[in-house]
Amino acid sequence: MSAGLLKVSALTMRFGGLLAVDGVDFSVKHNEIFAIIGPNGAGKTTVFNCISGFYRPSSGAIMVDDTAIGGMPSHMVARQGLVRTFQNIRLFKTLSVVENLLVAQHTQLSTGLLPGLLKLPGYRRSEREALERAAYWLDQLGLTALANRESGTLSYGHQRRLEIARCMITKPRLLLLDEPAAGLNPQEKLELQQLIDRLRREHNIAVLLIEHDMSLIMGISDRILVMEHGKPIVTGTPLEVRHDARVIKAYLGEE
Ligand SMILES: Nc1ncnc2c1ncn2[C@@H]1O[C@H](COP(=O)(O)OP(=O)(O)O)[C@@H](O)[C@H]1O
Ligand SMILES: [Mg+2]
Repeated sequence: MSAGLLKVSALTMRFGGLLAVDGVDFSVKHNEIFAIIGPNGAGKTTVFNCISGFYRPSSGAIMVDDTAIGGMPSHMVARQGLVRTFQNIRLFKTLSVVENLLVAQHTQLSTGLLPGLLKLPGYRRSEREALERAAYWLDQLGLTALANRESGTLSYGHQRRLEIARCMITKPRLLLLDEPAAGLNPQEKLELQQLIDRLRREHNIAVLLIEHDMSLIMGISDRILVMEHGKPIVTGTPLEVRHDARVIKAYLGEE
């Protein structure tokens, strides 16, 4: 963990009269697991939507290395190496598991439609490589046996894994996960925690994580930002956050 990868400064997002995000500052270092916690409606997902190009921030700056990405459309943000999952899983539910991973790479394949129609060698090679990458990520996420299943028929935990595989196959530098443990049972939560930690270690990514599950958050985060009513309350290590009087009062409840 070293230099900064993502830097968010004075980020503000207004919806009519509602200030959903109000002056949020934080940075995520290379290879860091950084979590955002806070009650429902605190503005966490809106921060994600601003970073990932789904909303244009009302004001503030979002920098990735030396590139300003605030207001960039999401496909351009993805090209900067930032990819996300959604609070409500978004897969192509009628496509198979492996097909979801092929579609994810489609925009990345350098060869266009014409070589495909002509069945040129370059196309066949890139097609084969896309399949190999899909097989690799299915294996990494323990989904190989489910490769040909229709995605919508998978368990919730497996759908969550497929969403993460779909992100990882695009070789991100920063993986943004919005409540990945929601709806998982305790065993699946534990496996998810180990998975996120392994992906960070083995694939040298940083992770920006929104989550409510405290044991997962405290277990893997390097640093945590606590938000309430759109405002940042405190940023610190799990130990610092756990003992911060404002956090205990506002979020964790009286102990
Ligand atoms: N597109 C939108 N239009 C209007 N209000 C929104 C929109 N998105 C979020 N909000 C509002 O912004 C506030 C923060 O929402 P959100 O970022 O989803 O919170 P969290 O993810 O922390 O639960 C909420 O009051 C929510 O209703
Ligand atoms: Mg949310």
